[in-house]
Amino acid sequence: MLTLTSLCAGYGPITALEDVSLTARRGEITAVLGANGAGKTTLLRTVSGLHRARSGAIDFDGTRLETVAAERMPRLGLAHVPEGRGVITELTVEENLRLGGLGRGGRVSSADLSRVNDLFPVLGDRRAALASTLSGGERQMLVIGRALMARPTMLLLDEPSLGLAPRIVAQIFGLVRTLVREDGLSVLLVEQNARSALSVADHGVVLNLGRVVADAPADELAGDDQLRHAYLGF
Ligand SMILES: Nc1ncnc2c1ncn2[C@@H]1O[C@H](COP(=O)(O)OP(=O)(O)OP(=O)(O)O)[C@@H](O)[C@H]1O
Ligand SMILES: [Mg+2]
Repeated sequence: MLTLTSLCAGYGPITALEDVSLTARRGEITAVLGANGAGKTTLLRTVSGLHRARSGAIDFDGTRLETVAAERMPRLGLAHVPEGRGVITELTVEENLRLGGLGRGGRVSSADLSRVNDLFPVLGDRRAALASTLSGGERQMLVIGRALMARPTMLLLDEPSLGLAPRIVAQIFGLVRTLVREDGLSVLLVEQNARSALSVADHGVVLNLGRVVADAPADELAGDDQLRHAYLGF
């Protein structure tokens, strides 16, 4: 379980997160929703140690993360998939996947590769292809697959749906659901695409200008017309 308590973060004079408290429960998908600039990416980067909080607490299964270095996070079971689908285009699909195992320090097992290829058959089919030849949706699968190679217990996903066709988004979210159901993974899913995110999430938190304005079960948020119109854009 990941618990943020009164988290504040920013950049120089800019406040990006103001007194943010939320919980992402084990074995659930927790969606963090909000418009451009709401603070979603800052929240994920602060959890994974890429950005430092000004104040507040981050607790992951009993470990305080505020001062933990980013490179130690994989060993604690946290995997961050940043926005932008950064694959290494000069390497093959399988080489990109294997890199994901390094963060944990362990050797990459063929079982880990098989598990990822079972989940995303297209990655197995294209294993020897250069990552530069993948479509946007395939790249998104590759960066998620690469994160899974470190055998995380919690996945931090930043805008996986951005710029993808609805059919591909549904496919990727469906696979995330499968991971939660079959592997007991916990997911913190950051999305501007609130409608799709709420259709797959258990719980949702809405950020506006760095503050939490709603925190409720996903179906409750999706059914709140006023909230949807004011903050979620659907
Ligand atoms: N490196 C940075 N330097 C200065 N300001 C930043 C930096 N990164 C983000 N910000 C500011 O912090 C605020 C929150 O940005 P953040 O990227 O966390 O939002 P977001 O919700 O992820 O937005 P988007 O949906 O566009 O990805 C914004 O006002 C943004 O301009
Ligand atoms: Mg962002």
